Amino acid sequence: MSATLIKDVKETFIKEFKTTPLLIFSPGRINIIGEHTDYNGGFVFPAAVNKGIAAAIQKSDTGKCTAIALDLDSTIEFELDKLKPSKEGSWENYVFGVVAEIQNRNKIIGDFNIIFKGNIPGGAGMSSSAALENSVVFGLNELFELGLTKTEMILISQKAEHNYVGVNCGIMDQYASMFGIKDNALLLDCRTIEAKPYKIDFKDHQLMLINTNVKHSLSDSAYNDRRSACESIAKLLGVETLRDANEKDLEKIIDKVTPENYQKALYVIQEIERTQKAAKAIEENDLETLGALIYASHNGLQNQYKVSCDELDFLVSQAKKNKHVLGARMMGGGFGGCTINLIANKEAKAFAESASKAYKTKFNNECSVYFIELSDGTHIIN
Ligand code: GLA
Repeated sequence: MSATLIKDVKETFIKEFKTTPLLIFSPGRINIIGEHTDYNGGFVFPAAVNKGIAAAIQKSDTGKCTAIALDLDSTIEFELDKLKPSKEGSWENYVFGVVAEIQNRNKIIGDFNIIFKGNIPGGAGMSSSAALENSVVFGLNELFELGLTKTEMILISQKAEHNYVGVNCGIMDQYASMFGIKDNALLLDCRTIEAKPYKIDFKDHQLMLINTNVKHSLSDSAYNDRRSACESIAKLLGVETLRDANEKDLEKIIDKVTPENYQKALYVIQEIERTQKAAKAIEENDLETLGALIYASHNGLQNQYKVSCDELDFLVSQAKKNKHVLGARMMGGGFGGCTINLIANKEAKAFAESASKAYKTKFNNECSVYFIELSDGTHIIN
């Protein structure tokens, strides 16, 4: 699938700019468990997938830069010394943001042209934004020999998102997209930014995504609100992040926070624990336990952290009715996007069909099913 993306950006680039580009593929990600824990210094369990963004990039000698998003049929031109955030929600902010953050680190880049094409639907909660940011920083690092490490590159991508896109995201998406390892998920400690790979081979079970194909508005502001709620509770507790607190600590300040925020902090503390337990369950090949943790994660996201939505809850409730689905939950920031399902291979197709049918009846809207492969992180295509 990514082969056609790469062919498309390459051919368009040669036609448009009459020179051979450098080609990069940058994947999206899934996350098995550990949601909204990254910016709390906790653990997450993502993996890069075989869907993502292909980019073709090369130096420009016309005195300006051009970026083309083939999927959107959108072209922008810009000058490196006149960068500022474009209007909210526009794709060029990802590009401008990365360039600006590279410049902030006193790294010198010259003019360039870049063309993108991707196959992660926007709003799917599979990090098309991180894939895009990483493709830009990776391409520029190669092209202008900036000597950035992968960790520096993902911090640049993350800062671009904070300062140009306006989402105060954690590091999970950029990490998974950059450092992904084929057939592995990464238990990432978001405090140290170090991960342990876990080979994922569930034998007679697999991970399957179902995209609600909805993305409710306000998700960005709700995200930032939750992040600041967590940070203020950490401050009240006198710790750096909620990673450093346990349920007993939290009980001590119960009178000082609203019941809603109390539940949010409790969710985070419990989810960090669940993520570590999930790693152990995978080590022990205990899929029943893993599945139960995944369902518990959804329950917390729905009822405590309150980042789910009717469409996601509906798909999870469909999963719960089917004994071949060991676990299901919303994935990513929330308010739409995909559920991730741990399901018996032999049941996957039938459940995909029955859930899609029920979803259509309930919401008069189609959902989409993705069978994914765990893949390598951002890389050059030769
Ligand atoms: C978004 C953010 C991540 C992470 C998830 C929730 O994907 O970009 O940093 O916080 O939401 O787990």
